[in-house]
Amino acid sequence: MITVLTVFSIIFTGCGNAPGNSAVNKPGEAVPEKSLITVGFSQVGAESDWRNINTESMKQTFSPENGYDLIYDDGQQKQQNQITAIRTFIQKEVDYIVLAPVIEDGWNTVLTEARDADIPVILVDRMVNDEARDLFTCWVGSDFELEGRKVCEWLNEYCKANHINPSNINIVNIKGTEGASAELGRTKSLRAAVNEYGWNLLDERSGDFTQAKGREVMSRFLRQYDNINVVYCENDNEAFGAIEAIEAEGKTVGSDIRHGEIMVLAFDGSSDQAVEAVRKGQISCIGECNPLHGPRVEKIIKNLRNGITPDKYEYVDEDIFSADDSVRNVKIDGEAYPVTVP
Ligand code: AHR
Repeated sequence: MITVLTVFSIIFTGCGNAPGNSAVNKPGEAVPEKSLITVGFSQVGAESDWRNINTESMKQTFSPENGYDLIYDDGQQKQQNQITAIRTFIQKEVDYIVLAPVIEDGWNTVLTEARDADIPVILVDRMVNDEARDLFTCWVGSDFELEGRKVCEWLNEYCKANHINPSNINIVNIKGTEGASAELGRTKSLRAAVNEYGWNLLDERSGDFTQAKGREVMSRFLRQYDNINVVYCENDNEAFGAIEAIEAEGKTVGSDIRHGEIMVLAFDGSSDQAVEAVRKGQISCIGECNPLHGPRVEKIIKNLRNGITPDKYEYVDEDIFSADDSVRNVKIDGEAYPVTVP
């Protein structure tokens, strides 16, 4: 007879001698605790609203009720903390390691250690560099370069629709954490658009994806340049900080750059505050970055346990948000992406 416990075991462990299998009880024997799948998750930190929503998604998915024992580690935006966390996961012999790498470089040694310990590593959100390509099982996350292309194309179309000469666009870039996939992809797209459309890129500096740094960097830019009319913020929190800095200087944020407003562009769109800022016209365009990766990672784990090889790379579909309806969609490589007015 198949007991409830056995059913649990089949559901959560798949077949073979995968970790988490439970032994069969003899009559009268104490029922052992339901065996859980152990997942060690090394998170980047808590630098942004996006990140907090992402952490919540992972914690909700990998709960004991769902059959998991999640060992969560906050890397506080330091790669060394993440490396230490992975080594601890290896020592604890977790079933799976999930890593959101803060930057792309520098993972070879520790990922080799995980491979040698036979623990599958699933990357989420950001990526590692090409040298470590064979050292992880699979990745799920955003196409950061595409996000950047969408926002830049939106600006290009906005200029056309509003008869703004591209040579009058004076833009500053508040970059994310240097070397992080989200920074690399979004920065690459901006630079390409600057070359293609002839905008003036006045300056670039990292705001480390935080509101405080975003404000600090924007204040500095405003003291240095008196002709900024667009700020490209590589996430929403930097945009909130930039808005604070612009308003503190007695300037106005908004899309009407012909009449002195400073246009704010951003990425994420995952918090109510960001959507509200778009509705109010404080942020002109957001390239969505979706943080709800918990169920996606769980699907990968379930597939692995069922002997199904997941795709090596899984990109998430994402939207574009703008309160301005002068651009209805943007075209990239022949594909039209609609712009959503929230
Ligand atoms: O890697 C995703 C980025 O990291 C998000 O855009 C940002 O908000 C977060 O900190």
